[in-house]
Amino acid sequence: MKFFVDTANLEDIKRANKIGILAGVTTNPSLVAKEGVKFEDRVEAICQAAPKLESVSAEVTPDALTAEDMIAQAEELIKINDGDEKITIKVPMNLAGLEACRYLTEKGVKVNVTLIFTVNQALLAARAGATYVSPFLGRLDDISEDGVQLLEKIAELFRLHQLDSQIIAASVRHPDHITRVAMAGADIATVPFKLIDQLTKHPLTDQGIDKFAADWQNAIK
Ligand code: E4P
Repeated sequence: MKFFVDTANLEDIKRANKIGILAGVTTNPSLVAKEGVKFEDRVEAICQAAPKLESVSAEVTPDALTAEDMIAQAEELIKINDGDEKITIKVPMNLAGLEACRYLTEKGVKVNVTLIFTVNQALLAARAGATYVSPFLGRLDDISEDGVQLLEKIAELFRLHQLDSQIIAASVRHPDHITRVAMAGADIATVPFKLIDQLTKHPLTDQGIDKFAADWQNAIK
């Protein structure tokens, strides 16, 4: 399973990239709004900050309601950095999003279909040619459903029908989500930087580091 970072914050992206585990970035309108920056400028800056990534998802804006609107926005976005191939157009799961997905993937543009909450939605997105499908785990858990179980079913369905869309575990909230989706066969988990930091932690690791430091100090006295 690969890691994407789920943020529009440049510092977080640079920090995740430095530790050598980063394969991509996902953004969404809420994350970009939080940064208070112009959308296209930030997408361009992200691509420049981490040039070796496989994918940077830029979501069409919420006022793009038709496939034509989404495609028009996508056509502007894919011009960024002279046609940067990392740029992945993120479209919502609805009829317009699926139509835009099929059109764009046929033109060779990578598409991430987002806001997936059922197996049927994932199946439709895959059949519309999605490069990535993004089931939202945490938001399902929030309404007392099991987000990981949804991802397990999608992974099984894609295996059964040889569907090659990659599954991005999204709306990931805690380390146990990461372990469970990796074991369930997610291709990617997209996570906030603070969760990547949390994954490095274990009380015995901290104790071990402190003990080595104390023993070292005693030995060199
Ligand atoms: C994924 O692409 C989304 O940006 C994201 O994971 C949403 O997560 P949230 O439910 O924490 O907002």
